[in-house]
Amino acid sequence: MPLHSLLYIVHYELCIIKIMAKIKTIGVLTSGGDSPGMNAAIRAVTRAAISHEFNVKGIYRGYRGLVENEIVDFHAEDVSNIIHRGGTILRTARCKEFTTPEGRKKAYDNICKHGIDALVVIGGDGTLTGAKQFASEFDIPIVGIPGTIDNDLYGTDHTIGYDTALNTIMWCVDRIRDTANSHERLFFIEVMGREASFLALYGAIAGGAEAAIVPEISLEQDQLAQLIEHGFRTTKKSSIVLVAENPVTGGAMQLAERVRKEYPQYDVRVTILGHLQRGGSPTAQDRILASRMGATAIEALVEGQRNVMIGDDDEQMIYVPFSKAIKYEKAIDRHLLETIARLSK
Ligand code: F6P
Repeated sequence: MPLHSLLYIVHYELCIIKIMAKIKTIGVLTSGGDSPGMNAAIRAVTRAAISHEFNVKGIYRGYRGLVENEIVDFHAEDVSNIIHRGGTILRTARCKEFTTPEGRKKAYDNICKHGIDALVVIGGDGTLTGAKQFASEFDIPIVGIPGTIDNDLYGTDHTIGYDTALNTIMWCVDRIRDTANSHERLFFIEVMGREASFLALYGAIAGGAEAAIVPEISLEQDQLAQLIEHGFRTTKKSSIVLVAENPVTGGAMQLAERVRKEYPQYDVRVTILGHLQRGGSPTAQDRILASRMGATAIEALVEGQRNVMIGDDDEQMIYVPFSKAIKYEKAIDRHLLETIARLSK
């Protein structure tokens, strides 16, 4: 091996030893809306940290726990038998106080009190936005893990919980289809996703729905009118349309109201899936993603990374700067709408 390569390796190893000497204790928290697989991520972070001989502190109720000092020692056995459980054993919250400079100062004081040298935060857009702000004010390395059913973070193909939510939606659509068929009805099924349309779009494909009404397209055209003008499948009397929860689509209730007024020939019903999409045992996909991301988050800290989210890019674990993950929009594949329409004829 040439001397310069050898020197590079020695330098790299020394840097890692220096960073590891600095980080002794890692705090882990879940924040924002929960998602199936968060427990698998907590388990992976805890176990990977322990295997690198770090101490672990569990922080309850997300940033609220940091502000209100709900911080406990975490050991390998504290995360036993949780890989299959929905929700989060650390609980979660949306914390107003952490959005204020005073709240963040309190949080930092508690971090110092517990000797926490680095943080792993698991959550969605709001969680990473909070982490970015915190990291810009205080000297603490933070690594994020994308945990949200919405799949709306840029730089990762999937977020933890998305696959489980999608499977839940598919399960529900299958059941609604039975009764829709029996009664020859038109069903609007509203799904979550906040600003994002991934659950509606992919849920429609997986459930064999006739259409997905999503904000990106609703902004440009009257999707409902088009759908009804072009007619639903002629070989079938019932129809299922997935609707993304969003003021732009109007939501399932509003669409159904319009159909009752403008197209009274349809017998229309609405199902809003709501928070049931957030629960349940995580799928294999989400458990694997959470486990890999949790372990990678600790490797990131060992390598001296900070202010990055762990992403999944074509099966590879990558580091995505917070600024990118929360700023850029993850676009939908518009061709999928065409596919849905084509397959429903
Ligand atoms: O971000 C996850 C999510 O489930 C969104 O899909 C939904 O709009 C929102 O959280 C609901 O939030 P809450 O649990 O506060 O009602």
